[in-house]
Amino acid sequence: MGPYDAIILGAGGAGLMAAGVAGQRGRRVVVLDHAEAAGKKILISGGGRCNFTNLDVAPDRYLSANPHFAKSALGRYTARDFVALVERHGIAWHEKTLGQLFCDRSAREIVAMLLGECELGGVDIRLGAPLGEIGHADARFTVRHGERTYAAPALVIATGGPSIPKMGATGIAYDIARRFGLKIVEPRPALVPLTLPGDEALFRALSGVATPVVARAGATSFAEAALFTHRGLSGPAILQVSSYWRHGEPVTIDFRPDAQPGWLAAAKRTRSRATLATALELPTRLAGVLAERLGIDVLAAATDRALAEAERRLAAWPFHPDGTEGYAKAEVTVGGIATAALSSKTMEARAVPGLYAIGEAVDVTGWLGGYNFQWAWSSGWAAAQAL
Ligand code: FDA
Repeated sequence: MGPYDAIILGAGGAGLMAAGVAGQRGRRVVVLDHAEAAGKKILISGGGRCNFTNLDVAPDRYLSANPHFAKSALGRYTARDFVALVERHGIAWHEKTLGQLFCDRSAREIVAMLLGECELGGVDIRLGAPLGEIGHADARFTVRHGERTYAAPALVIATGGPSIPKMGATGIAYDIARRFGLKIVEPRPALVPLTLPGDEALFRALSGVATPVVARAGATSFAEAALFTHRGLSGPAILQVSSYWRHGEPVTIDFRPDAQPGWLAAAKRTRSRATLATALELPTRLAGVLAERLGIDVLAAATDRALAEAERRLAAWPFHPDGTEGYAKAEVTVGGIATAALSSKTMEARAVPGLYAIGEAVDVTGWLGGYNFQWAWSSGWAAAQAL
């Protein structure tokens, strides 16, 4: 065992990527994890088919206190680079929608690929024991893992964020970072369903209804499907805006994003006997609730002014979430280890030579759709060049 050039904490996407690449560059690497198996989040991702990257990766599709931080790593190891790796391993893939690339068969192939790359690099992977004390003296890091202590001149924090604790996710990355004097941008659950308070409970009766919308939080909007749930709102459009949503702010929904201005008055002239509920051309239960809330039944009985007002409300229907479904349901964590202390080229902490942070542990969070795995690959690859 050992000696090692680098200890990587976390056998997730970022840690395995960094380990394989560094190993193949001749570095002696050990990966430590408390889980019994590597890459567990990869296995459950994308409904078991892993949405492993996105063709439209761009820095503005990531949230971070420093929106420029992710540029360097994303630019040096791109979605194309990852696709080339996937193809070298004979993994069949397809684009589902909005540039999202999935495995044709199974996410297990991505884990097998990463483990295969680690094997090529002679990486030691040690699973199934808790991390203990971490020491740092004379430019060497020591880490206790189960009964053993590992030592190396480099330590990579790749333990992800606290989303989905029942999969073994913890906030240990933040504890380790703080111990070395790094700051943390306050973490919060993201890509997560929103909950609605009692006075908006009428919408809970719509549980299971989905419809294409434009959902907006603050200045950011997403055109995708929204889904009503028994607790509030979900679906891709809502998951996307949840990353931007702040407590106390409304989320607005445009229920008819493709409609032309004046569409209800036009419907009144062509289909004067129609009710508003049918003119909405939305799922029946949803249309019924909206028409009832708007207080309009037959179009012919409504003034053009009332219809214009209805249009305005349908285009920016405010919901007032009282929270999210929390880390138990969040795909990712916004916030994390502050990028200000890290080199965007190598992910190394400038004040602590040899200490690196990669993947979801860092304050870089992507949109839904393969962006988070691409950050794991790109940041892992960047660190591996410097190890
Ligand atoms: P990751 O969380 O993968 O790995 C961290 C590792 O550290 C784990 O192996 C864990 O066991 C270990 N660890 C944590 N705490 C520890 C401790 N205290 N001691 C020892 N080890 C510890 N993204 C995407 O791009 N496309 C997708 O399709 C999906 N789908 C998806 C579905 C679901 C249900 C979730 C929850 C998430 C996604 N994501 C996603 C997000 C994606 O899974 C996530 O961004 C990456 O897995 C992050 O990779 P990391 O390697 O940084 O952390």
